[in-house]
Amino acid sequence: MKIDFSTEPKEELTVALFSAAERGRLPVEVPKAEFCGASNSLLHLHAERMLCIGLGDPAKIDAQRVRSAAGVAAMFLKKTGRTAMQLDLRGREDYAGAAVEGVVLADYRFAEYRKSEAAELKSLRCIVEKSALAAAKRECERGRIVAEATNEARAIGNLPGNVLWPESLADRAEKLAKKHGLRVTILDEKALKKGKFGGLLAVGGGSMHPPRLIVLEHRGGKAGDAPIALVGKAITFDSGGISIKPGDKMEEMIFDKCGGMAVLGAMAGIADLKLKRNVVGIVASAENLPSATAYRPGDIVTAYDRKHIEIINTDAEGRVVLADALGYARQDCKAAEIIDLATLTGACGVALGECVAGLWSTSDALERRLLESSGRTGERLWPMPLFPEYDEQIKSDVALVKNTGGRLAGACTAAAFLKAFVGDTPWAHLDIAYMASLSKDRPDLARGATGFGTRLLIDLVEQR
Ligand code: BES
Ligand code: MN
Ligand code: ZN
Repeated sequence: MKIDFSTEPKEELTVALFSAAERGRLPVEVPKAEFCGASNSLLHLHAERMLCIGLGDPAKIDAQRVRSAAGVAAMFLKKTGRTAMQLDLRGREDYAGAAVEGVVLADYRFAEYRKSEAAELKSLRCIVEKSALAAAKRECERGRIVAEATNEARAIGNLPGNVLWPESLADRAEKLAKKHGLRVTILDEKALKKGKFGGLLAVGGGSMHPPRLIVLEHRGGKAGDAPIALVGKAITFDSGGISIKPGDKMEEMIFDKCGGMAVLGAMAGIADLKLKRNVVGIVASAENLPSATAYRPGDIVTAYDRKHIEIINTDAEGRVVLADALGYARQDCKAAEIIDLATLTGACGVALGECVAGLWSTSDALERRLLESSGRTGERLWPMPLFPEYDEQIKSDVALVKNTGGRLAGACTAAAFLKAFVGDTPWAHLDIAYMASLSKDRPDLARGATGFGTRLLIDLVEQR
């Protein structure tokens, strides 16, 4: 999308944002019942060539409100066949970056197999005050980069299991790395066997498509500086394996790779922004299927760091592949800190619903930074506990840990399991199970993969 700037709107349809207290600024008198300025409400004034979008209570306006409002406007324009958007940001230049993010995110739809009826936006003109022009340009460019990186994560995230499996994902990761100037290393099944990545090999063993460990590197910092490790779960399809899932909604398990997709997207954005940090992205990819070669309940798996895992349920596979990836981040990458993202548990949705991701951390400082980033990007996180009782729940009689901890606190025992593989490296875990995809269109975002976590990770590395 081409973005340009002007200090005066051109004579064409203009999108304008109104808080609930700003109805007086409307160019004509409008009954309150028609447009009250509520968040994401919409009014098209044909004669005045103005599309008004509400921002709600003026005291509650933040970047996320503006992001979403700009997205709602973009969706409206696309549906009416328009390919250009003019957005009046005068007086709200602080939110110019968020507005661009909203527009770029709203513009994406998965249309590889069914052409979209809506038009694609080709250009966006931002109207800003002269005094704010330079800063707005910078923020808008950043907004475009992070939103496009998110859309890259969504584009791969939306691919079905018969198109995307660990090897084809690794091919796409290689392309992405080349495009954005990242170093890339792919560990194929031979390398995984040689390196004794027991978790990935166990989970991937049931599929004709063998597992992969994908490692992307961004070297923006000093040569010797320990990297931040971003680790993602990328199960290209999760049937549950031998502990097979019920059929209802199983098709949604194509989105079980979305933690890994957020890592890919974040690495792309980090490279494009040329952030001055060393960052390594580690994506653990396997397909979890039942077959004669699948791993089974009762198996004892040796993870990459030589710790033993008793398999109780083959559907708790994410933590098993992450055990390997976390060990690799700690031992091989010598990470200064590790942040993992995973569509890990249904229990996280039971605890928190589908409006927020769970956050577990062994470091108060890292947790605080993540919450600060979350506040800026609008990707909501909620801190969750790591009580020692959860460690008790996953103790095994035959190994160090077992891969399930019973019915209670399922998201917390999953986090406790991961904690067993990070040693004393500061670590945070984000359970994005119900944030990674949408089953229906939202007014500001198309259904399918959301790219949740991409912008958050970029912001964390950037620490604005
Ligand atoms: N990928 C699922 C978690 C999931 C469930 C994500 C629903 C999105 C929506 C994960 O691999 C899984 O199956 N977890 C099990 C763990 C259980 C066996 C301990 C679960 O949540 O049921
Ligand atoms: Mn599973
Ligand atoms: Zn899974």
